[in-house]
Amino acid sequence: MLTTEAKLPRLITSLPGPKARQWVELDHQFLSPSYTRDYPLVAARGRGANVEDVDGNTFLDFAAGIAVVSTGHCHPEVVAAIQKQAAELIHMSGTDFYYSGLVELARRLNDIVPGVEPKRVFFTNSGTEAVEAAMKLARYHTGREKFLAFTGCFHGRTFGSLSLTASKSVQRKGFGMLVPGVFHAPYPNTYRGTWGFPPETVAADSIKFIEDALFRRLVDPSEIAAVFIEPIQGEGGYLPAPAAFLQKLQTLCRKHGILLVTDEVQSGMGRTGKWWAHEHAGIEPDIVCAAKGIASGMPLGAMISRASVMDWKPGAHATTFGGNPVCIAAALATMNLLENGYIANAAKMGEFLFARMKDWPARFRTVGDVRGKGLMIGIEFVRNQKTKEKGSEIREKIIQAAFQHGLLVLGAGGNGVRLSPPLMINEEQADCALGILETCIAEVERTL
Ligand SMILES: Cc1ncc(COP(=O)(O)O)c(C=O)c1O
Repeated sequence: MLTTEAKLPRLITSLPGPKARQWVELDHQFLSPSYTRDYPLVAARGRGANVEDVDGNTFLDFAAGIAVVSTGHCHPEVVAAIQKQAAELIHMSGTDFYYSGLVELARRLNDIVPGVEPKRVFFTNSGTEAVEAAMKLARYHTGREKFLAFTGCFHGRTFGSLSLTASKSVQRKGFGMLVPGVFHAPYPNTYRGTWGFPPETVAADSIKFIEDALFRRLVDPSEIAAVFIEPIQGEGGYLPAPAAFLQKLQTLCRKHGILLVTDEVQSGMGRTGKWWAHEHAGIEPDIVCAAKGIASGMPLGAMISRASVMDWKPGAHATTFGGNPVCIAAALATMNLLENGYIANAAKMGEFLFARMKDWPARFRTVGDVRGKGLMIGIEFVRNQKTKEKGSEIREKIIQAAFQHGLLVLGAGGNGVRLSPPLMINEEQADCALGILETCIAEVERTL
């Protein structure tokens, strides 16, 4: 049984173990084949930054359930809040009834989103629903129909959010027509450049592209309801947009009366060492979408907008489960923990990790780039550091090798590995994770 004490990986079987093998076989028989599992981890329980599998192997979790368990697995305060709430009221539906948790959490979110104007909150069950809500509100409020999003960004998989998503074509292929009127501009990739724009000028070039190629030739800005952007791209490769770019984008939006929406589903709730990644650029979006880390693993999302923007009328948008009392209780406990130390810890541990990884591109010929903020760190693997040829198969081998050493990580983009541990990790765990990755990279490089 795992305790809350920090543990390093401890493997007692070969991987996958005998029980895990059986579950994986059954899973392949009964579950949707659309899921993407990189390795055969069959989780049984989790505590802090550790996950124990069905065979009793202990892993160090630097994936955190896709950047979700912000306070660690099963934090006692979150568990207690869930248990208490579950014994009092499990469901009412905030659409048709009042309950205090909704107000408490909305007030707390209002306090942490920058900007002088008060905010209003629409609660959802997931990230994609927060994005859908933002799209609908943007159309409703502005009376405009069109949207601008960025290449490489991921906003979700329902039809509206998928129309904004431009991460991998497999996510769109086979699903027919999406929401019309969505335009894409190049996300400023400062490692590779984008669409032929060199890395050094890509931020300015992307803005110029929006003004010259899009606004002048394809769509009048007065028809665009909102711009959606991930201030740090998540699924697309843990790639931060430069602050100057985000500031210019805000200026452009203000000039044309376009709403600026930051999708902070992955980068928000303290992961980058501030509540929101957009705070690093000092911008004030009109709408912020949050989910993932907000409730330590309970399904909750939030679309937070300037109060004057959220002007839709009763019945215009609603949900049965969004803002469920148990999820809200988990979120309130999560926010307390984040506020009382875990966000500061994310900033501190991020610095520690970056300092240790600084020399990786010099030490390892397959490491092209190490980037990110706080505990949102991307490592891009290449076949050749000069040509930057993508090392997708190198990345796959490293993820597999890490698993075999007891470290859980996920990929991001075509050839990156993301580090998105719980925000409560300590130095020993951070050090151990990097030690394992260094071993894995060296192992994989010996085979090339
Ligand atoms: C930035 C971003 N937006 C939206 C989503 C969709 O969230 P969900 O999977 O909860 O629908 C994700 C999920 O990875 C995400 O990273």
